[in-house]
Amino acid sequence: MADLSVTFCGIRSPNPFWLASAPPTNTGDQVMRAFDAGWGGAVWKTIGDPIVNVSSRYSSVDLGGVRMMGLNNIELITDRTPEINFKEITEVKKRYPNHVVIASLMVESKRETWHEFVRRAEDAGADGLELNFGCPHGMSERGMGAAVGQVPDYTCQITEWVKEAAKTPVIVKLTPNITDITYAARAAKKGGADAVSLINTINSITGIDLDSFAPRPSVAGRSSHGGYCGPAVKPIALNMVASVAQANLGIPISGIGGISTWRDVVEFMLLGSTTVQVCTAVMHHGFRIVADMIDGLSNYLDDKGFASPADLCGRALPSVTKWEELNLNYKIIANVDQAKCIGCGLCYVACNDGAHQSIEAKPRPEGRTDVRILEDHCVGCNLCSLVCPVYDCITMKKVETGRPPVNWKEYSSSPDKYPYLKDPHH
Ligand SMILES: Cc1cc2nc3c(=O)[nH]c(=O)nc-3n(C[C@H](O)[C@H](O)[C@H](O)COP(=O)(O)O)c2cc1C
Repeated sequence: MADLSVTFCGIRSPNPFWLASAPPTNTGDQVMRAFDAGWGGAVWKTIGDPIVNVSSRYSSVDLGGVRMMGLNNIELITDRTPEINFKEITEVKKRYPNHVVIASLMVESKRETWHEFVRRAEDAGADGLELNFGCPHGMSERGMGAAVGQVPDYTCQITEWVKEAAKTPVIVKLTPNITDITYAARAAKKGGADAVSLINTINSITGIDLDSFAPRPSVAGRSSHGGYCGPAVKPIALNMVASVAQANLGIPISGIGGISTWRDVVEFMLLGSTTVQVCTAVMHHGFRIVADMIDGLSNYLDDKGFASPADLCGRALPSVTKWEELNLNYKIIANVDQAKCIGCGLCYVACNDGAHQSIEAKPRPEGRTDVRILEDHCVGCNLCSLVCPVYDCITMKKVETGRPPVNWKEYSSSPDKYPYLKDPHH
């Protein structure tokens, strides 16, 4: 059996599954129940000067039958005092010395205040510190959270202040509400960060009530933009994790954003994460989901012959390239398994109106539509296979062109060598 323990910027964790700083890590009682359920670590709900929250704080986007595909919140950091939080951290560490407790911190941008909170968190027994430079609402209006994370100089400066006082590893949590996350990651590294975690939530408005015109979640008929997370944000988070990993900063990454299953965990690791953090999936299904993550990751590692999660770290990164490096001579076309086709005609409609007019349709009097791929026309865009409601009915098959690989850089330097590439259906 693979050993699931990991070491993250010097912090040893029984497994790579950590709870993200959020409501599930609001109290010592919750964190201890999470550890009993199998979580290896917890990043405490962000500690700072206690705030006042609004009532009505969350809203969500459902998709089809899936509830909370995306979750939005306008909640701030902890509303409990630092004294209570630090006391509970001490208790948790006393009872669970081998589990990881990270103190997430956010205070006003003053060197002495940061020094004070670093000292208090470490005195309480935290294994490390996570700097919340990502909260996109409320706190940012007070010059904290994303207001720091969006300005690389501030990120660097505050990380430096923290490092002046810190004896434990410092993780900088990055905001996705920027144009290029590598600037923020570089600034954190420049300031001395031992690791980065990403992503925090994405600026969002989840919807408007069509009768009252109130944005959701409505606070007496008004709202502000919130932070979006959950399964909907996973693709954005994966891309940002890959970008930071490819920046080769030499510090580890804790991947966050839309993780619900062990498969999500593996994807984050393959793109460069050493540990992962989970919030929405636990808010939705409870601490128990970690049992499946542990089983799934263990089985996957065993099946693939890997000894530990560390063996997965960054393995997919060589395949994440620039567009200009992709092979223009690689060709796939759609293939319909007629035995599985239910004759709905959706692939035809999608291809005809929304893509490349490469499917022929013959409606039958009884209502069914027969479809046939026009192979000479098909550009291999995948759309028909994506809209097809029947699993594995439309698959994409590789066409042997007999042509050697050529990428955009090679093509654009001597286009006359590849006249066939000018034909969109080549
Ligand atoms: C209600 C709520 C409160 C949150 N509070 C915090 C917080 O106090 N500090 C922080 O760093 N991140 C906070 N987050 C962000 C999460 O830690 C996490 O970065 C984000 O939700 C993405 O992960 P997920 O898709 O697994 O939810 C919060 C998220 C939610 C939904």
